[in-house]
Amino acid sequence: MPLQDLMTRELERFRAEHPRSEALAEQARRSLLGGVPMHWMVRWPGGFPVFAAEAEGARFRDVDGHEYVDFCLGDTGAMTGHAPPAAIRALAEQAPRGITLMLPSEDALWVGEEMGRRFGLPYWQFALTATDANRFALRIARAITGRPKVLVFDWCYHGTVDETFATLGPGGEVALRAGSVGPPVEPSATTRVVEFNDVEALERELAHGDVACVLAEPALTNIGIVLPEPGYHDALRAATRAAGTLLIIDETHTICAGPGGYTGAKGLEPDMLTIGKPLAAGVPAAAYGFSEEVAGRATAAIPRETADIGGIGGTLAANVLSLAGMRATLSEVLTDAAFARMIELGERFEAGVRHVIGEHGLDWHVTRLGCRVEYLFHGERARTGAQAAAAGDAALDRFIHLYALNRGILLTPFHNMALMSPATGAADVDRHTEMLDAAARELTAAA
Ligand SMILES: Cc1ncc(COP(=O)(O)O)c(C=O)c1O
Repeated sequence: MPLQDLMTRELERFRAEHPRSEALAEQARRSLLGGVPMHWMVRWPGGFPVFAAEAEGARFRDVDGHEYVDFCLGDTGAMTGHAPPAAIRALAEQAPRGITLMLPSEDALWVGEEMGRRFGLPYWQFALTATDANRFALRIARAITGRPKVLVFDWCYHGTVDETFATLGPGGEVALRAGSVGPPVEPSATTRVVEFNDVEALERELAHGDVACVLAEPALTNIGIVLPEPGYHDALRAATRAAGTLLIIDETHTICAGPGGYTGAKGLEPDMLTIGKPLAAGVPAAAYGFSEEVAGRATAAIPRETADIGGIGGTLAANVLSLAGMRATLSEVLTDAAFARMIELGERFEAGVRHVIGEHGLDWHVTRLGCRVEYLFHGERARTGAQAAAAGDAALDRFIHLYALNRGILLTPFHNMALMSPATGAADVDRHTEMLDAAARELTAAA
């Protein structure tokens, strides 16, 4: 059966098996913009999203009573597993004792010290989202260097940060990323862009002397996983130091590499580090850290009298509830021991996908960073964001997601990403392998 016919069959099955979700989606069109509470939910395959009823551990149930193994895990927000008991206990104990006060609690100290242990940076601040942590880090970098620009990698994603919606155009110029809604200024005014793993381009762009900071995921994770080549991080660190440019490492997704993210696993030495998503088991929480030197310069750059209106803030930031959640998550859920198990499962997932690729002679490849695994419909491993983007296959992507959904498996949307949580089990991983094997059999028969 050709891919299009397979897709039609899967769409019919999805619709037939999700009457309650379909009815809710219909009703939602009358009160929610586009029929969804958050705009990109319109992109789920199937014609309407699955409405969630409840979630626990590595599973969730929808309103039609189907149970799913969740490898999306809220796109890393629930990398802890859903509702981990230790975090829920801490949140339930804290909530009746206050949620937000604009005052510090003792949990903040514990979390600051633990973040220092994990990531090697001595000073920390908190925010509610990784987007905000990045926005504040960029402001501080500009303030303390007196330089206007940020350098990012082609096809990066760091949240809804205006300066990062830039890609390389066909002539190597800085261009607005397709789909960017209402940009405040031309991105070339704020941003320089280079390909990941291209040291020469990096040095060339830094030589302009106007780059306050490089904002970098240590491996790209939002356009498939693009791993750094050997020596790349040494070169990045040396080039930024030589140019007087700060290096900000965004560990929001690469925390999958271990308890201290890629930075902890590989001994990186960023000037600042940002992270959000799973820190408080899904309750909004984010953090940004500073080296000793940058902390001193940042303190001097934020005048006490105007500290509340300087563009770095968030009334609810550092609230006592999210800090209680962070303390419990870091001390009892995303522990060193949990990471060891999660990474082992990541290896099992990778081996399963590799087996399916080999068995069916597919021109695909699988790549892994710690407990995060991704397969791409292209035989060659991308070394840049542009190569990864060019290798995308939207139709096949939608088919695999829907095929998985119809068989009780949720993958991270818009690419084939799977994340292991402390609650994920070997049987969950094997169920995915079996699903992929069946899909591959049908696809190769169709070809
Ligand atoms: C690397 C990275 N940084 C930051 C963010 C922003 O996170 P949030 O949307 O929670 O602000 C994302 C979101 O996907 C991300 O992938």
